[in-house]
Amino acid sequence: MANTMRAATVTPGRPDDLRVSEWPAPVAGPGELVVEGLLVGLCHTDLEIINGRIDSLPPGQDRMVLFHESLGRVLDAPAGSGFAAGDLVAGVVRRPDPLPCPPCAAGRSDFCQNGDYTERGVTGLDGFGSERWTVPAQYAVRLAPEVGDCGVLAEPTSIVAKAWDQVDIVGGRTFHAPQRVLVTGAGPIGLLAALLGVQRGLEVHVLDRIEAGVKPELVRALGATYHLGLDTVPVVDVVIECTGAGPLMFDSVLKLGRNAVAVLVGLSTSDNSVPLSPGNLNDTLVFGNAAVVGSVNSAPTHFRTAAEALAKADQEWLRRLLTRRVPLSDWPRALELHDDIKVVVELSR
Ligand code: BGC
Repeated sequence: MANTMRAATVTPGRPDDLRVSEWPAPVAGPGELVVEGLLVGLCHTDLEIINGRIDSLPPGQDRMVLFHESLGRVLDAPAGSGFAAGDLVAGVVRRPDPLPCPPCAAGRSDFCQNGDYTERGVTGLDGFGSERWTVPAQYAVRLAPEVGDCGVLAEPTSIVAKAWDQVDIVGGRTFHAPQRVLVTGAGPIGLLAALLGVQRGLEVHVLDRIEAGVKPELVRALGATYHLGLDTVPVVDVVIECTGAGPLMFDSVLKLGRNAVAVLVGLSTSDNSVPLSPGNLNDTLVFGNAAVVGSVNSAPTHFRTAAEALAKADQEWLRRLLTRRVPLSDWPRALELHDDIKVVVELSR
């Protein structure tokens, strides 16, 4: 194999310097898979990195390989790893802190206590935006062959799989038997949260401000109800908040019924203040025994749940989420503003 390969690289804080670099080809360590990179997905966090809002560079580097939403095909797997050449895989994003803190020691670095974790393509580690990558077998998750290119949705699906896991855990403290869910935001995270809600047999309501086009179509194709404002949304047992947007984050919580659970997964970068009604919030949460929790990142177990959810989804519906493809040779075009759900970069072109 060649010693170098092409990679999508950035220097955080230098949006004017996005490159296709000749990059050292990775060499597999013990227990690691060698993977041919097929696709990576663009997410808002990538923009935050490019704009220098996340402290991202791996130690000693002045550029890094971008992208944390991965899909690849195993080229070489060590004996006994549970993987074989040809398997479709996605890579888990987070790695434990070196100490490690108790959650990291228990294999749950998604709950890292001291914040010294690293993340592929986000903080301290190169990402998956290259023609080849290596990954320790325990941080790779196999995807069903029929999922094909939609396997690139494994990482965002794992984020909402963790959110649903939190609904079960936090709801378990009451007599929670959810029937109705509100998902705020019909981007990739919101649509995948809605998909998992439908797969759970729930009545799903999705709110977004886009009036027409692929978002409402995809929501309706799921059998869910699309809303343009909170006033038409009924009281719900679960809120999955995927926007991180100003007033909506708080106002959606006011839709919680008794013993209900809201999970906030949308990442917000806004410093704006928003008006709050302490009385309403108090009524909903205190009188309703309701809970609001935050949830970030995901563990290998959530990637496995995601792989199952993607395998049993309507594949045609999933494919409609991949709205644009750009070749690695021209990857900065992924950042162009269009009406996209998920933009993917094809690593072989
Ligand atoms: C990723 C998470 C990550 C978070 C913060 C998100 O875009 O999906 O895995 O933990 O960014 O870095």
